[in-house]
Formats: sequence, C-alpha cells, structure tokens
Amino acid sequence: MRALVWHGKEDIRCDTVSDPEIEDGRDVVIKVTSCAICGSDLHLFHNFIPAMLPGDVMGHETMGEVVATGRGLKNKLKKGDRVVVPFTIVCGECDQCKRGYFSVCQKSNRKKHLADKVFGHTTAGLFGYTHLTGGYPGGQAEYLRVPYADTTVQRVPEGIPDEKLLFLSDIFPTGWQAAVQADIQPTDTVAIWGCGPVGQMTIRSAVLLGAEQVVAIDNIPERLEMAEAGGAITINFDEENVVERLNDLTGGEGPEKCIDCIGMESHVSPSMPDTVYDRAKQILLAESDRPHVLREMIYVCRPGGLISIPGVYGGLVDKIPMGAAMNKGLTFRMGQTHVQRWTADLLRRIEEEQIDPSFVITHEAPLTKGPEMYRTFRDKQDSCIKVVLKP
Ligand SMILES: NC(=O)c1ccc[n+]([C@@H]2O[C@H](COP(=O)([O-])OP(=O)(O)OC[C@H]3O[C@@H](n4cnc5c(N)ncnc54)[C@H](O)[C@@H]3O)[C@@H](O)[C@H]2O)c1
Ligand SMILES: [Zn+2]
Ligand SMILES: [Zn+2]
Repeated sequence: MRALVWHGKEDIRCDTVSDPEIEDGRDVVIKVTSCAICGSDLHLFHNFIPAMLPGDVMGHETMGEVVATGRGLKNKLKKGDRVVVPFTIVCGECDQCKRGYFSVCQKSNRKKHLADKVFGHTTAGLFGYTHLTGGYPGGQAEYLRVPYADTTVQRVPEGIPDEKLLFLSDIFPTGWQAAVQADIQPTDTVAIWGCGPVGQMTIRSAVLLGAEQVVAIDNIPERLEMAEAGGAITINFDEENVVERLNDLTGGEGPEKCIDCIGMESHVSPSMPDTVYDRAKQILLAESDRPHVLREMIYVCRPGGLISIPGVYGGLVDKIPMGAAMNKGLTFRMGQTHVQRWTADLLRRIEEEQIDPSFVITHEAPLTKGPEMYRTFRDKQDSCIKVVLKP
C-alpha cells in the first residue's frame, strides 16, 4: 500500500510499504477514506519529539471502512462498518480507561518501558506518534491496523460526508476538552493563543459553552479572520501588545481562562526576546520546548484563574514563572485528549448541526501529494489552515 513515511527531519515521503494485517483478536483493519495532517505531526516533521525511526508511518487523524476483523472483538464491529479512529488507542479495561482517562491507558502502549522511563509512567499507545507511544503505524496510508478496535473506534452513520466527521479523531475533541476543562462560566473571558486548527475548534467550543467573550491571538490574517467568523475578538500579536489588549478587554483584570493552542513551537521573534533565548537553548539541546505562551498566560491570567493546555509539550522548558503562578493561585489543566470520552456526544452535536467541523478545511489533496502538503501546512502557504488527504 501507499503511506506517508518518516525518513528524518523534514523528510516525509509517499512510499510503498507492506499492507497491515490482523495481529490480535481485538484488531480491525480499515481501508482509509480520509486522513488529515495535524499540528502535532509538525513536531515530528521538525524532529522535536524523540523516538521516531526512519520507516515509521505517519498520521493519527483517520477514518474509513472496516475491511478485516479479528476473532476476539468484544462488540459487534464488523466488515463494512464506517468508523472514525481516535488518535488514542485504548484498551477499555485498565484503571485509567475505566475512569475515562483514555490518553493515559495503561495497556495500549506496547513500548510501555520507554514511556515509563521518560515520563515516569506509561501513557496510551498513539497512532503514528513515535516509539514512546508504541511505535504504531499511522493512518496517513491506504490501510490502517487498529489495535483494541472494539474500544478504540467510533462508529459513524452513513449519509454524512467524511469532512464533517473526520475531526472527531482528534482536533474537535481536543478543542472541546481544552474548553471543557477550563470550566467556562457565563461571565468568563476566555483567551485562546493560536488560531491553527486546534485553536479554531477551541474557539467554537468556548462559544458553544457560553463564555462571555472569547479572545483569539495569532499573527496570521486568514486564521484571525476564521476566528472572528467563529465569534472571537482577535488580537494580532505583530500589531498589538497581547497583555495590554487583554487587560483592556477585561477592565484591567485579565482573562479568567487562558488556553494554549500552540505548544512547544511558539513563534520566535526579536520583539519577544524570551523566544530568541528559547530558540538558542533549543539549538544547543539545553531546552526541548519554547514556552513563551506559558509565560505570557501566567502573567496575564486573572488571579484565581485557570490555564488549559492542549498544545503539545515534549520535554523540558525553562524560565517558567512559578512564583507568579503560585501566588496568583492559578490552576493548570493539560493533556493529550481523552478522545473517546467526547466522541459520542460530539457526533450527536454534528448530527444536530450545532457545529460543522469541516469549516476548518482549506486544502484537499491525494495522499501522494502528502509530502508537499506537509510543507504547505507548515509554511501556511496558500492560506492553508487544514489539509485533508484522500488515499
Ligand atoms: N492535546 C492534544 O491531544 C492535541 C491534539 C492535537 C493537537 N495538539 C497540539 O495543539 C497545538 C496546535 O495544533 P494545530 O494543529 O492548531 O497547529 P498549528 O501549528 O497549525 O497552529 C499553531 C498556531 O499558533 C500560532 N502561534 C505561534 N506562536 C504564537 C504566539 N506566540 N501567540 C499566538 N499564536 C501563536 C501559529 O501562527 C499557528 O497559527 C500543537 O502543539 C499540537 O501538537 C494537541
Ligand atoms: Zn493531532
Ligand atoms: Zn486502558
């Protein structure tokens, strides 16, 4: 089959690899009908997260049709079923899965010993996301093997186009969880850093959850326009001082809720000297992630407020003002998304037309064009916000 394969830094190719097969009774194999490129894939593209190996198949936003089933499936998943595949592989039976903490499933990471060593404990197996999370082949491919399929996939009905359903695999639940875990109250100002696909889903979620005002921050005009269309007040950080504007919008008090939809690859600019410091330390391998936005959020967040972090961090960060965070009494909530906690409810919201997540798609291309679409997405060329690939 054809698949997008990681060969090293900024080197992804569309190769021919062997077809996946059933390896365990709870597996299914799906024929992929649509897949997407995520901001998290860019961290791998830039080789900022360790434990990718040449030959690894990329991709964790995938849907398709079941074409082969294992003999031990615990539910009625069968050939021909249409499914969305969340990026988190979950066993459904460990203590964490039972609590709904799916992204820290204790059983699905088949290279658990690596995660135990690096993070102190294992986290869930993920598709196409390094050997720290199992080294499972990803879904930017013609076919995908889904382990623990009976508890991992979300079955979806016929009659709704892929484009409306695909993002149940990741960015829609991610934006939703980022907003839900901010515990939004009707009087809250919610400030959201980053208007990429995850930021866009977070903005729409915060609006749906009834925030008084949602403020979105980025410097890319078309992303800010999309944020505004979703109901946000926007701040272009190239043109305005973010902290001053947020204080202006909140009577000098600061936003109650701050959400980081950027993560480890925050923009670097001489106008933000700490970002140059972070970049230099990153090059020297003295720091793995650039946490400018965390510093800005801690500084501007209202005392007693909450910081929600869906943006991915990979390792170590430096110069985090813990003194300000502690003395202001801030709460932090973060994590890879517990996707399966949200998919059924969000599918209902799509069916009821409360939201159509396809608004974020700007590019569709065949899988074979994947390597160049990684660059288009990374460089924000051609006003690119979200790419869907068709095998
Ligand atoms: N927690 C999860 O489960 C989960 C799931 C999906 C994605 N993610 C993470 O979410 C993050 C965003 O993903 P995406 O697909 O939207 O990526 P993206 O790269 O398309 O978007 C990031 C956006 O942040 C903007 N930005 C950079 N620096 C900024 C700054 N200082 N202030 C304001 N805006 C700034 C960029 O211009 C860009 O528009 C990534 O870190 C990704 O790994 C996490
Ligand atoms: Zn993702
Ligand atoms: Zn589990």
